[in-house]
Amino acid sequence: MLAGLRTRARLVVVALGLGGCGLYSSPATTLVPHSDFGNVSHRIFLQILWWDVGIFVVVAAVLLWVVFRFRERDSQVVPAQIRGNAKLELAWTLAPVVILAVIAFPTVAAVFRTQAGVPANALRVRVTGHQWWWQFEYPELGVATGTELHLPAGRPVALDVSSVDVIHSFWIPQLGGKRDTIPGQINHIVLTPTTVGVFHGQCAEFCGASHANMRIVGVVQSPADFDAWVARQKAPPAVPADGTPAATGLKVFQSQACVGCHTIQGVSGGIVGPDLTHVGSRLTIAGGMLANTPADLAQWLGNPPAVKPGSIMPNLHLSEADVQALVAYLGSLK
Ligand code: CUA
Repeated sequence: MLAGLRTRARLVVVALGLGGCGLYSSPATTLVPHSDFGNVSHRIFLQILWWDVGIFVVVAAVLLWVVFRFRERDSQVVPAQIRGNAKLELAWTLAPVVILAVIAFPTVAAVFRTQAGVPANALRVRVTGHQWWWQFEYPELGVATGTELHLPAGRPVALDVSSVDVIHSFWIPQLGGKRDTIPGQINHIVLTPTTVGVFHGQCAEFCGASHANMRIVGVVQSPADFDAWVARQKAPPAVPADGTPAATGLKVFQSQACVGCHTIQGVSGGIVGPDLTHVGSRLTIAGGMLANTPADLAQWLGNPPAVKPGSIMPNLHLSEADVQALVAYLGSLK
């Protein structure tokens, strides 16, 4: 409990630090796009924002003029009683029509632009929402991971998004495009990341107890770094040397319920939870809630639902020794 509070306090400090100047430096900012999709939406946002500023200035000026020009000067005098003014009524009907048309043209154009077909050289990624974590599969590369979406900068990517349980919504604000993930249906996001970096995302559709804990870490890499990552992910998992704590951890993994839910290539084939073949190489665990450190991993394994309310991974009531052995084994799966 205390450890949980400490983690939360740490996250708050990190969030405040990252928050810094607020709008632009927040990890969930939409104001600093890093993909073509993000740039298209951002341009429209700015266009509409400036038009809105113009409209606000005109409306506020007219309002102020009316307030002062027609204020009550003498409470005994009844003002002129006017009813109907064809010109005015025509004007305030047509003006919004023009404004909406001016907003609609670039918006519809952007919708078509961002919904265009999948380019031939696009990298395909199957994105699946689970209560409460994200699964990323690269069918052409034979790679599967959880929470952490690796993408090469400069290459179009086609995200085929769906869900296994309820409706979620995939969203990495700085990469643009938010899409509902619906069971039995595949929606698409096509985008080209433009900048190398780590971009945070979050499920954007309320989906149950741990909706807020369903995070995404978008890792955009140079093509060479991405290829190296793919090569590491395709490699078979580390095999612990006899007599090491990791070897004990492998035995614990195989003797506990872990095997029923998780895949580790060549060790187990569960598909309920994330593929753990290279879990040690990830930045975060527990759907992005915790850092991938031995202490945080021990906390997670010790009582998953206490960390992530409603977690499908139950409290297995592992002994402290078993937890430490698992931490050694999972940490070795780089
Ligand atoms: Cu998944 Cu909210």
